[in-house]
Amino acid sequence: MLDALSKSFFHALARSASLERMASRYGMSGRAGFARRFIAGETADEAIAQARQIQAGGLLLTLDQLGESITTLGEAEAATAVYLTLIEKIRAAGIDRNISVKPTQLGLDIDPAVCVDNVKRILSLARDHDFFVRIDMENTPYIQKTLDMFSAVWTQGFRNTGVVLQSAVFRSEEDAKAVSVTGARVRLVKGAYKEPSAVAYQAKADVDAAFVRILQYLMTDGHYPAIATHDPAMIDATKAFAAEKGIAKDRFEFQMLYGIRRDLQASLMADGYRMRVYVPFGKQWFPYFMRRLGERPANVGFILKAIVGER
Ligand code: FDA
Repeated sequence: MLDALSKSFFHALARSASLERMASRYGMSGRAGFARRFIAGETADEAIAQARQIQAGGLLLTLDQLGESITTLGEAEAATAVYLTLIEKIRAAGIDRNISVKPTQLGLDIDPAVCVDNVKRILSLARDHDFFVRIDMENTPYIQKTLDMFSAVWTQGFRNTGVVLQSAVFRSEEDAKAVSVTGARVRLVKGAYKEPSAVAYQAKADVDAAFVRILQYLMTDGHYPAIATHDPAMIDATKAFAAEKGIAKDRFEFQMLYGIRRDLQASLMADGYRMRVYVPFGKQWFPYFMRRLGERPANVGFILKAIVGER
């Protein structure tokens, strides 16, 4: 109940334009900006500098340019151009060749055909240079459109890509099967968005139970699944299932977000698991940042301390 309330509260705040303006002015200013805990920088170069350090510690990476729900195709074109440049910058930096993209940032909401085109341009350059491109999943109105877009590029022969499914959403168990049958990879998450009860579980126990069911399916019938969670119970369930079924540690990977449970990231890596860190960057960091606060209201205390500490 408290979980759902805090999620709604922070999602409501995330829609406040004046709060966004104020936060955007101070959140990333200076090296001690309060949003830097969760955002690797406002530019690709800053993010790559952080990513290098993460990789030096033995962790895998995926870089994500923040931004969503754009309103013009010009913005979608600009976001696509940033990704094309990012691929070149990652190559030049010699870091892990893996990126994540958000469909609405590439035009899904305005013109799905243009979005498919933009995704194909990114996938083509990515394929030339051996990159993997994960298509993030946004809120439920976009699930079918995202899977349709994914299916379009998959059937056109792009294999360097995979999707994300959210255990909170009822349909994800069926989607996990449909996607796995094609041979595509799935990243499993709980789901970051506040969804209505008609389409998604509301209680943490139900979201977690679905997460375990889907992860077990993906571990046996899926293709190199990514188990993306900071929840020790979900991580233990994954490890226990892998041990029980004799699934080797290189047949799947764990993923966590930049700045969250770095202790757990390090301990999984030390235990020989593959551990990938999602490294977000960009000027449009506010909605992403607010989702992170909503997941763990204690983060507000951490942010306040950072702000007070700056004075
Ligand atoms: P849960 O929220 O139950 O948290 C379990 C524990 O983890 C908490 O008790 C706390 O210890 C820790 N924790 C979780 N969030 C924290 C935070 N913000 N700050 C500090 N501690 C925290 N979602 C989506 O809808 N579409 C997507 O494409 C993606 N992509 C994605 C990629 C990767 C690599 C990750 C790790 C996550 C996503 N997500 C996502 C987000 C995901 O759906 C979910 O919102 C968060 O991972 C939080 O859920 P947990 O599984 O961590 O569990």
